[in-house]
Amino acid sequence: MAASSAKNTIELLDRILKILEEEHVFDQTGDQPVVRFIYPAHLNRLISLSLDEEPASDKEIETIVRQIVRYSVKTSSPHFHNQLYAGVDKYGLAGSWLTDVLNTSQYTYEVAPVFTLIERKLIDQSLELVGYPQTPQGDGVMSPGGSLSNMYGMVLARYELLPQVKKMGLNGCLPLACFTSEDGHYSIMKGAHWLGIGIDNVYQVKTDEFGRMEPSDLKRAIKKARDDSHIPFFVNATCGTTVLGAFDPLLEIAEICQEEGLWLHVDACYGGTLLLSDKYRHKLRGIELSNSVSWNPHKMLGVPLQCSLFLVRSKNRLYEANCAGAKYLFQQDKLYDVTWDTGDKSVQCSRKVDAMKFWLMWKARGTKGLTHSVDQAMNCKEYFLERIKNIAGFRLVLPEYECTSVCFWYIPPSMRGQEETRNWWDKLYKITSKIKELMLLEGSLMVSYMPLPTKNIGNFFRMVVNCQPPPTESSIDYVISQIEKFGSDLRLSSI
Ligand SMILES: Cc1ncc(COP(=O)(O)O)c(C=O)c1O
Repeated sequence: MAASSAKNTIELLDRILKILEEEHVFDQTGDQPVVRFIYPAHLNRLISLSLDEEPASDKEIETIVRQIVRYSVKTSSPHFHNQLYAGVDKYGLAGSWLTDVLNTSQYTYEVAPVFTLIERKLIDQSLELVGYPQTPQGDGVMSPGGSLSNMYGMVLARYELLPQVKKMGLNGCLPLACFTSEDGHYSIMKGAHWLGIGIDNVYQVKTDEFGRMEPSDLKRAIKKARDDSHIPFFVNATCGTTVLGAFDPLLEIAEICQEEGLWLHVDACYGGTLLLSDKYRHKLRGIELSNSVSWNPHKMLGVPLQCSLFLVRSKNRLYEANCAGAKYLFQQDKLYDVTWDTGDKSVQCSRKVDAMKFWLMWKARGTKGLTHSVDQAMNCKEYFLERIKNIAGFRLVLPEYECTSVCFWYIPPSMRGQEETRNWWDKLYKITSKIKELMLLEGSLMVSYMPLPTKNIGNFFRMVVNCQPPPTESSIDYVISQIEKFGSDLRLSSI
């Protein structure tokens, strides 16, 4: 009976693997559509999504699985450049599947012995990469994404300044103030809400033309907060801003934080991957002077979602700030050294094993392999940038880009050489979203567009080059030719 149930499970997984293959999910030639876009109401009718009293048959399940795969976006296509993540490394994927099969939670050594050691190894290796001392001095935890990792930074900063808040809450405290650049990620706002700090108490620091935090404006904002009778406690610097990929000047910001006695957190969710490159790690110079760091290997590097590390310089703070000491789980009289029960450092109880996929990928590729893939992504970004600088119709938002994304417009032939009035720009912003619409409907390319209100700029494209699938000059040439195709074909009278 048990043997036949195991056989059934293996047969089911085999069938699903076959469907994935038949639907070209692993295809990296770029010959397949990156998306088969269908409007929501139609898609809702197309797939049998109802949850019914009676079980679905094997045949029905197979059909539904095939449809789910078919109408999902193929992020492993070389034509997917829409997000700060894309395809996955095959070893990362294997690691992810292994953790799903072994289905356990990363809280005690008892239920996750190997994964506990693997997480510790990965955290130590990442601490070293950042330049922090390793455990037991430095510490870290894997969290379900960069937003949460940034919130860990905020919690620890507050705990450092006001440990009594853990017991007594914020009652009676003066308002706290935190600082992030106007181009920083919105998770700091969400964190301020969730932690009872209030979004009005997030001071937005001005950025320069490249999107980097202006240290002089940080000083001004800290003074303003103190003048407002707020208590400054947390500065978030960003390495690799979401839209422009800018790196805040960490050395100068660290000096200000030291003078002012403030916790410096570095949101390196996107740009942290450059630490793996000898050629580019200098962009994060000063990260070793910070108090905590967030890094998402699920972005540029190609570790399967979700893989985010929160790293902290100080000893025991992660545990002290988060522990609740539940006796049913973290008994102190177990047969092994209970400091290996690392779950109480986390805000979560059950926690997916995210370390395994990155660890297996690192093991299989070696640091050398990871370095190579980062350099390749940066080279292809440079190739894209240099090519569009020399093609009529492409216009850059900034002349240079520090990370792996490039922001630009495409100006259709009939709009070139005209006076660039307000109306001209408004039209170009609409054309940008129209080109996106055409590429999505054709399913041949995905590049996202966005405005940048902090710089008073309307819609432009943000082309992201990721490490997986490994980009090539021909995959980059394809993006250029597709944008030219959609842009030149536009009937401007309809815009
Ligand atoms: C700079 C930066 N920080 C944090 C985040 C949030 O990461 P996550 O999507 O894993 O929550 C993002 C997401 O794009 C980001 O760009």
